[in-house]
Amino acid sequence: MIEKIDSLKQEIDSFTINSEEELEAFRLEFLSRNGKVQDMFKLMGQVPNDQKAAMGKAMNEVKNLAQERFDSAKESLSGKEAVTFGAADDISLPVTPKYTGSLHPLTRALREIKQIFLRLGFNIADGPELEDDFHNFTALNFPPDHPARDMQDTFFVKRSEENPDENLVMRTHTSPVQIRLMKDTQPPIRSIMPGRVYRNEAVTAKSYFQFNQVEGLYVDENVTLGELIETLVMFAKLMYGSDVKYRVRPSFFPFTEPSLEMDIWWNNEKGGQWLEILGAGMVDPNVFDAVDVDSETYTGFAFGMGVDRIALLRYGIDDIRTLYENDIRVLRQFK
Ligand code: DAH
Repeated sequence: MIEKIDSLKQEIDSFTINSEEELEAFRLEFLSRNGKVQDMFKLMGQVPNDQKAAMGKAMNEVKNLAQERFDSAKESLSGKEAVTFGAADDISLPVTPKYTGSLHPLTRALREIKQIFLRLGFNIADGPELEDDFHNFTALNFPPDHPARDMQDTFFVKRSEENPDENLVMRTHTSPVQIRLMKDTQPPIRSIMPGRVYRNEAVTAKSYFQFNQVEGLYVDENVTLGELIETLVMFAKLMYGSDVKYRVRPSFFPFTEPSLEMDIWWNNEKGGQWLEILGAGMVDPNVFDAVDVDSETYTGFAFGMGVDRIALLRYGIDDIRTLYENDIRVLRQFK
């Protein structure tokens, strides 16, 4: 009996199926009601009881094998048919496009910024998004009544009227990471600190209530304002090309003296305007005092740049909100 089953198996295996006719012949030979597989099952009556289970199993395997050969041959035959074109087929019709993923413009801008500063000898540090009052404000030389501490700008997670030192805020800038770094590390320090920041501000085409900054800090003996400006101009040229239109103008920040801002010319739908991309300056001695760095020995420069605006300019996006809405049609444009 087992020999019969085996030889049927071989017959199924060696049957050639290369056409619809052969497929039908196969079906009649093995799978039809009078086919060899059904005939095989009719032999079950002759099998002694103690072998019925084993034989049944072997027969079922043969039946499955025949069905599988039939199915796969049928599938490959229909595949063959699909590539034969008839006179009515228009092979110039466009195919349905297949989209692959791509990097978000913010990720791309951030990577470019990091690459530029790594090349200039900076390393990368980071810090928490939930900050205390000391790191976000006090150590950065914000007076207790400074307007930036006001509800207008800051998302407070915890606010204490009696003891403002206990305040917890969503960091309003990446500058507190400078403080953490200087407390932990002795100069020389040359680091950038990328991260997300939060401001309780009106949403417009240019600002959002959350955005990304890259902070920079260089502390050593004899660091100068000239080196700061040179570094920033170098950055602008590496980011936007050597013919970038930029300007550097005086500004004010509590934690730097003197302070400045850098603008890049923004060619937008309205014909163009200056867009501020970063604030910077020489680290204020009061900041050094707050973190126990000797301000007689060391000087330093710092900057904080807005990654979102840098991305707008870099990729010709005209509304910052686009970066957070994740509209797939927009993202597909950034390949
Ligand atoms: N923290 C400032 C802001 O968010 C940006 C900034 C300005 C950072 C000057 C700096 C700096 O490190 O030196 O607007």
